[in-house]
Amino acid sequence: MSRRAPLVFIMAAGMGTRMKSDLPKVLHRIAGRPMLHWVVTAARAAGAGRMIAILGHKADTVKAALDASFGPGTVEVALQTEQRGTGHAVQCALPAVASEDDDRIVVILTGDAPLLASERIAELVTACEASPAGMALLSTVPPRPMPYGRLVRDAGGTLARIVEHTDATDEQRKIQDTNAGFYAIRLGALRKDLATLRADNAKGELYLTDLVAQAFARGGATAIDAPFTEVAGINDRVDLAAVELAARRTINETWMRAGVTMVDPASTYIDADVGPLGKDVWLAPNVALRGKTAIGDGARIEQGSVLSDVQVADHVYIKPYSILQDTVLGSRAEIGPFTHCRPGSRIDEDAKLGNFVETKKTHLMAGAKANHLAYLGDASVGAKANIGAGTITCNYDGVGKYQTTIEAGAFIGSDSQLVAPVTIGRDAYVGSGTTVTKDVPRGALALTRVKQVNVEGWADRFREANAKRKKTGEEH
Ligand code: UD1
Ligand code: CA
Repeated sequence: MSRRAPLVFIMAAGMGTRMKSDLPKVLHRIAGRPMLHWVVTAARAAGAGRMIAILGHKADTVKAALDASFGPGTVEVALQTEQRGTGHAVQCALPAVASEDDDRIVVILTGDAPLLASERIAELVTACEASPAGMALLSTVPPRPMPYGRLVRDAGGTLARIVEHTDATDEQRKIQDTNAGFYAIRLGALRKDLATLRADNAKGELYLTDLVAQAFARGGATAIDAPFTEVAGINDRVDLAAVELAARRTINETWMRAGVTMVDPASTYIDADVGPLGKDVWLAPNVALRGKTAIGDGARIEQGSVLSDVQVADHVYIKPYSILQDTVLGSRAEIGPFTHCRPGSRIDEDAKLGNFVETKKTHLMAGAKANHLAYLGDASVGAKANIGAGTITCNYDGVGKYQTTIEAGAFIGSDSQLVAPVTIGRDAYVGSGTTVTKDVPRGALALTRVKQVNVEGWADRFREANAKRKKTGEEH
């Protein structure tokens, strides 16, 4: 395609009053991704050139979020300090494109309608290119009455103008075709027509939709019908939940078609930026995959597990109610039930973590095991080492964090404390109940227990004495 990439404006200056939130509306998340970022992502996928977000309410917060996700300045910002309508919003973006040619196409999107498909943006651009009036827009037929602008046509069916809901007569409100709020227009026409807008309407605003009447004089704008679910905007938290549900359904269907089994798709929560998920991945109910999580072929994740930014290799098995963040799991690793892998955990192939094991900045090498009740923080655990129940790396002295190194094949007996910094040598043993404060040499046994004493008959005598006391009603 030799045509030039369209300019993209994203209107997002509104207050979002009905969200009743401290967070700007367009930063509320759908499937883990701010709704404005969905719009930017779709525009990018449609081959957008310069993208300009029109911001007002909490503009600094919104700009910071855009910069953090897409790189500083990737999405440019035009400020609309006072919200005087959608026409005024677009006027505010014009100075930023002063150097662009009149025949450039501008796509105008809104930041609060996250499910618009990139194909629809491409269709808008194509229709605008073909339109003698140099304008195209998306229309939709809502499933229930909505306060949207109505598409008014002349006797021949040409789009004559848009009448806003508040300005519409009862007769006009019966029109099924409504304005979805997305447009493509030649920059030259946009410049000329915006300059003539007047706020002579019910809301006293400059309506972008008045541009449609001006396009009629040039032969009429082209309307493309879009499914309502794709163009639905978010005004309050009820809308937010409805769009979240629609997004989740689409995400889950996409992954199921790619070879992922979901026992109960309705309770499977996969964020927008998750992937890839391999063939024959199996997900039980109430599994949540968040952030940049990716999963290899044949991995199984049981009920209630939550993975955030986790790289899961092939054939890993995660048992119920395991919580993992920023973790890398090697092939065939087994995790859970009730395991907590905190950031910086790396669990290599065939390694195992069992119930109530917590790891943080810890590397378990191939085949190492910690099957029950352990805390492994700032530790490196060599291949095939065995960590007994109740082992704790004492990595923190209230000031600094220190490293524990457990070399390959070492055996750490149950209920041991490893006071870092400390190294347990290759194939060494740590006896149960030991508090290790010094390095253990390769192949040695470390033991800090006091010697066991057996007092013969003590328990029997103790019980007899107590029984006697009870009979005589004596207090102790
Ligand atoms: C708009 C359309 C309407 C359409 C509907 C679809 C106009 C006049 N009407 O109405 O035909 O059916 O969308 O959802 O355009 N915004 C700004 N600055 C402003 C005003 C709005 O940035 O001064 C932004 C808002 O943040 C929002 C978008 O523009 O993202 C749409 O504005 P909104 O006030 O919600 O327009 P509607 O009344 O819904
Ligand atoms: Ca709206």
